[in-house]
Amino acid sequence: MKIGRITASDRASAGVYLDLSGPAIEESLAKIFPSETAEYAIRLLPDDRAQLELALIELADDERCELIVTTGGTGPTDRDITPEATRSVIGKELPGFGEIMRLKSFEIAPTAILSRATAGIRGRTLIVNLPGSPKAVRECLAILGPALRECLAHLRERP
Ligand code: MTE
Repeated sequence: MKIGRITASDRASAGVYLDLSGPAIEESLAKIFPSETAEYAIRLLPDDRAQLELALIELADDERCELIVTTGGTGPTDRDITPEATRSVIGKELPGFGEIMRLKSFEIAPTAILSRATAGIRGRTLIVNLPGSPKAVRECLAILGPALRECLAHLRERP
């Protein structure tokens, strides 16, 4: 399966620190899709809305990723614009992904409500936002596994 992953981080993209969240996405998805071989298209970008929108469009329309997972840029600061970039490229929003992430994560981390992560469909591609830390990536993907599998099965069935 072709998967896109985008790390949105001013500091990681500038080399201030290593992007550990992108690799954490791959580790977690390997557990969710154990029988699939994943091919990754990878982007490490600053928190720039235009760049994020372009990357989402390229990974969905040109690279034909069936799943794109973003990490970072979902919080409350001015630079956090991943949910806005996502909303502007999807045709249909799936708010349940963000809702259940916040609800279940809140039991582990009360700061989980600071994330505005969402998800949605662009064409045949499912786009899912995750918060920025590797810990949050692991926690959230552990929650989303069944919904990810089901949603991709629906998209694959579409004529
Ligand atoms: N969700 C989980 N499961 N675990 C976490 O540690 N961190 C929160 C939240 N969601 C967290 C989490 C914090 S501290 C922030 S600021 C927001 O995600 C937004 O993170 P982001 O701006 O890096 O996307």
